[in-house]
Amino acid sequence: MTANSRIQVKIEKMAIGGAGIARHDGLVIFVPLAAPDDELLVEITTAKKNFAEARIVEIIKPGPSRRTPPCPVANVCGGCNWQHLTEQEQQKQKEALVLETIRKFNPDLKFDYLPLQPSPRSLRYRNRIQPKFHNGRFGFFARNSHEIVEIDDCLITEEVLTKKFPEVRQWAADKKSKDLLRLEMYISENEEIRHGLITDEDDGIGFSQVNRFQNPHLLETTLEWAGDINYPQVFDLYAGAGNFTFPLMNKYKSANVTAVELNPKLVERGRSQNKDKRLRYFMSDVESYMRRATIQEQDLVVLDPPRAGASEYIMRALAAAAPQRIIYISCHPVSLARDLKWLFASAQQLGKKFRLERMQTFEMFPQTDHVETIAELRVDS
Ligand SMILES: C[S@@+](CC[C@H](N)C(=O)[O-])C[C@H]1O[C@@H](n2cnc3c(N)ncnc32)[C@H](O)[C@@H]1O
Repeated sequence: MTANSRIQVKIEKMAIGGAGIARHDGLVIFVPLAAPDDELLVEITTAKKNFAEARIVEIIKPGPSRRTPPCPVANVCGGCNWQHLTEQEQQKQKEALVLETIRKFNPDLKFDYLPLQPSPRSLRYRNRIQPKFHNGRFGFFARNSHEIVEIDDCLITEEVLTKKFPEVRQWAADKKSKDLLRLEMYISENEEIRHGLITDEDDGIGFSQVNRFQNPHLLETTLEWAGDINYPQVFDLYAGAGNFTFPLMNKYKSANVTAVELNPKLVERGRSQNKDKRLRYFMSDVESYMRRATIQEQDLVVLDPPRAGASEYIMRALAAAAPQRIIYISCHPVSLARDLKWLFASAQQLGKKFRLERMQTFEMFPQTDHVETIAELRVDS
């Protein structure tokens, strides 16, 4: 198969990264914007030894879950890559992808996989966005491009933010800059609508959960799975501004709580929210922190790393410390699956035994292939 050749394919399912997967002469072909069971005429855009990428030329027969995207620019905008799938199909594919990925890395793992928790809102759920402005154009980058797709609305963003688009566009235009401006708009903790610039020197407000309608369910599940245990110490690794830290402090009233976060702005926000003597908020890389951490067998560890996941060193250190419960919140199934593999392998070498008690996928990012998963690990006694 060579670049530019055209073939007919049928899409089997969706892949990590959001493309549909088809097979042709034993070769896997990734087709962006495809839907399961679509029959398509595609053109090969990249041909490699083990796989190819292709673009849709014609939808010969649409799969049953294909729909017209609710947003008129969904097919060109780089923001949403699954708007052409019904919400039911998005959820089905995410649930299956997480399970398949965990099994691929950990074939013998047995665990309870709870049904996916849908998002209370599938549109109008985002409370933080990063539009761009250049040459009078306000919008988001087009898919795989730095061209700006002009928008006057964004259907996945909360309306209180999108209503401010004309004002923010004018604010950006008034800067009279020839450069591309990277903007940030968000709803602050006290419900104010804020906007600003992201520059090389200033990365904006830093991480916050973008779906405030689903976040409470994620917190609730974390606290429930952490159980009614009198932990002496609770660790919140990759703590951000304390999204999990403060609910954990409230639940475990006698525990000493340690939050670890690298971003100074988030650490400052976290520290300013709570001056309780039980709380220590470290500004540190988690791996460096683990070199001096005092995690014990009676403790609880919650970790919520970025998409890259934790690291082999961190998972080994957790295996060695063997806290009675670990709750791992993940926004990328591949890094979760890999980190679990490292944890189980290290535990085995160290003569410790963990089990994956349960796992559940959360829909935090409807209309995109992004997926959140929560996993509970226990030491097997
Ligand atoms: C997925 S967010 C979770 C934040 C928080 N738990 C929440 O729910 O808002 C991951 C966080 O890890 C932080 N981070 C990224 N790399 C880190 C590292 N190497 N060490 C410590 N924190 C890190 C990011 O700044 C971000 O706040």
